Amino acid sequence: MRKRETMSVLSVTQIATDTFEMIAENSRISEQAKPGQFVHIYIPGHTLRRPISIAAVDPSTASVSLVFKAIGDGTKQLSNYLPGMQIDVLGPNGNGFSIDISEDERVLLIGGGVGVPPMYHLAKRLSEETSIDIVSVLGFQTKNAVFYEEEFNRIGETYIVTDDGSYGTHGVVTDIVGQFTDRTQYFSCGPLPMLRAVKSKLSHIPGKVSLEERMGCGVGACMACVLPTVDNHYKKICSEGPVFVAEEVVL
Ligand SMILES: Cc1cc2nc3c(=O)[nH]c(=O)nc-3n(C[C@H](O)[C@H](O)[C@H](O)COP(=O)(O)OP(=O)(O)OC[C@H]3O[C@@H](n4cnc5c(N)ncnc54)[C@H](O)[C@@H]3O)c2cc1C
Ligand code: FES
Repeated sequence: MRKRETMSVLSVTQIATDTFEMIAENSRISEQAKPGQFVHIYIPGHTLRRPISIAAVDPSTASVSLVFKAIGDGTKQLSNYLPGMQIDVLGPNGNGFSIDISEDERVLLIGGGVGVPPMYHLAKRLSEETSIDIVSVLGFQTKNAVFYEEEFNRIGETYIVTDDGSYGTHGVVTDIVGQFTDRTQYFSCGPLPMLRAVKSKLSHIPGKVSLEERMGCGVGACMACVLPTVDNHYKKICSEGPVFVAEEVVL
């Protein structure tokens, strides 16, 4: 359900190079958000809203966590927000990951860069609401870009991979995901080339992928975010995604 809301900033903390964690208050979003859903943020001076995944929620404190990389004007502006400031958002938006999953599944979560925050929301909720076995593989460019390692470690076995080998395993997530041969299902979020490689490497098990590609309107009207499907149709990431069954889409 897409609804306009105000979030009240509680804190903004730098947690890695150019990467910020914002905690903001909004009771409806904290109660309703599913892992994989995002908020569409209005940033003054910018016509288009910015989509940012919900990284965690805590309904007991009405808080919503967002983790974002300050890459352009909008996200840089957002990183300078101060406690007490108000943010105009639409959300929770999109279709998220289902956490209605059988207890005997052994899941593999794979996140790359800013695809890690929605994977954390999913890992946290799966660990709170099920006793499922979770293994996570997280890819970053370099050591200083790594975040949420401890948080993932608290939930299950976690492997870090860096492009330059400065921390964890040297390489990309697909160099190691094939090792986890006992996994029955995977969930992944990250850049399109990563998702394409993950889908190909793990084609023997079912998977769901979440795409963080460019959006325009964010409400299904402009077709800026379309993704081809294997049956020669198109799906809109903003309204029909961002989470899709991997076998159903052409990445
Ligand atoms: C569903 C979804 C969830 C996302 N979740 C996160 C997250 O949790 N953390 C995070 O750091 N980033 C996330 N992104 C990417 C984030 O939206 C962009 O980094 C951000 O919009 C860039 O805005 P900007 O003003 O800094 O950059 P600019 O380059 O100034 O943005 C210009 C325009 O391009 C769009 N845009 C630019 N880069 C991207 C991109 N990579 N993806 C989508 N739109 C882009 C912007 O929204 C804006 O409309 C997500 C994207 C999507 C689609
Ligand atoms: S962003 Fe306009 S249709 Fe998806």
